[in-house]
Amino acid sequence: VNLLLAGDLDAAERERWRAALAAALPEGRWWTRDDLDRGRADPAAIVAAVVANPPPGSLQGLPSLRLIQSLWAGVDRLLADPTLPNGVPIARMVDPAMTAAMAETALWAVLALHRGFFAYQQRQRDGVWRTHAQRRADEVPVAVLGQGEMGRAVADRLAAQGYPVHGWRRDGTALAAVLARAEIVVNLLPLTLATRGLLDARAFAALPAGASLVNLGRGAHVIDSDLLAALDAGHLRHAVLDVFTTEPLPAGHRYWTHPRVTMLPHAAALTDPRSAAAVVARNLRALRDGKALAYLVDRSRAY
Ligand code: GLV
Repeated sequence: VNLLLAGDLDAAERERWRAALAAALPEGRWWTRDDLDRGRADPAAIVAAVVANPPPGSLQGLPSLRLIQSLWAGVDRLLADPTLPNGVPIARMVDPAMTAAMAETALWAVLALHRGFFAYQQRQRDGVWRTHAQRRADEVPVAVLGQGEMGRAVADRLAAQGYPVHGWRRDGTALAAVLARAEIVVNLLPLTLATRGLLDARAFAALPAGASLVNLGRGAHVIDSDLLAALDAGHLRHAVLDVFTTEPLPAGHRYWTHPRVTMLPHAAALTDPRSAAAVVARNLRALRDGKALAYLVDRSRAY
């Protein structure tokens, strides 16, 4: 079976994926877009594409394509490709190792915010020896935006740790009402037209003074100027940001040095080829056997 592996992967990443996928699916013959363009493989033979944010146009001219399997959980960039073939099913990545990593990152951020560890880190840099009040987890309400695979896993992990957790999805309660009761907001929404820019001045104003944001979704969920204004005004205490409107975050951006911002380089949860390859293989075998495909994207919802 002829398969396309396409994405903005460097050579080492591509090799890791190719090795993991070959081990999980020995019957697969893996090709790159370059192979197709140079005539080393027939585009009409490709039945499925396994993609990690491929450059726009990568999936054009594949008449036999019957599945686009993303290696990324979020498919916003994939769906933004205007040349994406219509009618070909798209599957998101749901990788158990990635979901577990996301729950760990959320737990780290929430714990550090709840106990004031980022503030202690700042005091160390300032040479200040001073304690603040120690609070219990059950005193720190957390709102988790997004109730997909990751949002649910994060909500469960935080609840198990003793935090009062309110999970929010877009078709549920009004967002402002949920934010009004939260001290920490963890964002794990998919990026769609309906969620882009959702975390704006109005949302921040709805939060109680001293609340914090943990953005593990997409940078474009946040209106950056509004977030910076809320942090500068002291209304928001801290932001932990893994994702940015432009990645890598441009040099000189205020987030790099802002005392109330803790950054990760889009590393909260990486797809792990060792476990994700098995997920890909299962879907490719389901395709071959005419069985139901897992984790299909609803193009009308965009996730
Ligand atoms: C990471 O952000 C992903 O969508 O997989």
